[in-house]
Amino acid sequence: MTAPDLSAHAPLRIGVVGLGRLGKRHAQNLAYRVRGAALAAVCSPLDEELAWARGALPAAREYRDYAALLDDREIDAVWLVTPSALHAQQIVDALRAGKHVFCEKPLSLDLAECERVLREAQRQPHLQATIGFMRRFDPSYRDAYDKIQAGLIGRPFMVRSQTCDQNDPDGFFVRFAPTSGGIFLDCTVHDIDVARWLLGKPNAKRVYAAGTVALHDGLREFGDVDNGVAICEFEHGRLAMFYASRTMAHGNDTGSEVIGTAGSLAVGRNPRLNRVEIADVHGVRNECTPTFFDRFEDAFLYEAQAFVAAVQSGEQSGATLADALEATRIGNALRRSLETGQAVTL
Ligand SMILES: NC(=O)c1ccc[n+]([C@@H]2O[C@H](COP(=O)([O-])OP(=O)(O)OC[C@H]3O[C@@H](n4cnc5c(N)ncnc54)[C@H](O)[C@@H]3O)[C@@H](O)[C@H]2O)c1
Repeated sequence: MTAPDLSAHAPLRIGVVGLGRLGKRHAQNLAYRVRGAALAAVCSPLDEELAWARGALPAAREYRDYAALLDDREIDAVWLVTPSALHAQQIVDALRAGKHVFCEKPLSLDLAECERVLREAQRQPHLQATIGFMRRFDPSYRDAYDKIQAGLIGRPFMVRSQTCDQNDPDGFFVRFAPTSGGIFLDCTVHDIDVARWLLGKPNAKRVYAAGTVALHDGLREFGDVDNGVAICEFEHGRLAMFYASRTMAHGNDTGSEVIGTAGSLAVGRNPRLNRVEIADVHGVRNECTPTFFDRFEDAFLYEAQAFVAAVQSGEQSGATLADALEATRIGNALRRSLETGQAVTL
């Protein structure tokens, strides 16, 4: 992909909303690494996050209140990195205020809320709105996509995909569990989007999911698990198998495999940190990427660059709101299947 010439456009003035674990990373990318972007404002209800912004970012207007940021007429786009349960309403409010929207995944935990966002976006077709399925911008996933489009593996009919985090003994995600939507909407939602993207956007017909609590008993009260597996049957004989885990010993082990009628492609089968191979008394091995951010740092940057280019060109880039709605529909069905022990027909 050649980057469009952005020098002809005024910088896109962006307000980043939410400066937690991931919001800080997005804000730094937008401030220092994305041509054509200007970090104009930040928003957080927390003093310590605003203090962090003062030290780590170029001067930006500060807001504690999202509604006040939306009233700022010198902001063109909002960048939502807030808890998932807030996304839908915040997107609707941003569109009504005339702002372009980048929002982290998932679009919403609730299907009716997703539909409400799509209706609002249809009323504002001049505004860009996308959801942060950043794997679409990872160079290896992108290369696999291009090779599939070129027919390298024939007709792709199956995806095996996993999102597996290193175990965090402090259980950060257990505190996150009341608002995350559970392992399938929080983690597998990425694999769902990857599967639909690589298989040509099929609709899902039926899903089955199962899970277990291997280490983190605190998840039980939220009906969540720390390891989950699922099968998804799509229309036209396409299939996906998903695995999500919060308990890997070795690091973030995230990857996908696509199987076609004339071959297969695998992305990230060995989740290696770098190209160093260690040979010692334990054998031959490599170190693993510790976190999702170490694995997808470039993808987050390229996704931000692509959003700015999309606003300048008026052409959609990345996952559409409709893609994100489908991911929530399937993620919700997986959750229902986990709860009931039954296959769910969509
Ligand atoms: N793409 C990925 O792989 C990926 C990875 C991690 C997180 N995420 C998504 O990013 C989002 C944030 O996750 P996180 O890990 O950074 O969470 P976090 O809890 O660390 O951060 C959430 C932030 O939102 C702020 N906030 C809360 N209520 C707010 C409000 N009403 N207005 C403005 N700000 C508010 C908090 O102060 C905090 O800064 C989630 O939706 C999550 O699903 C995506």
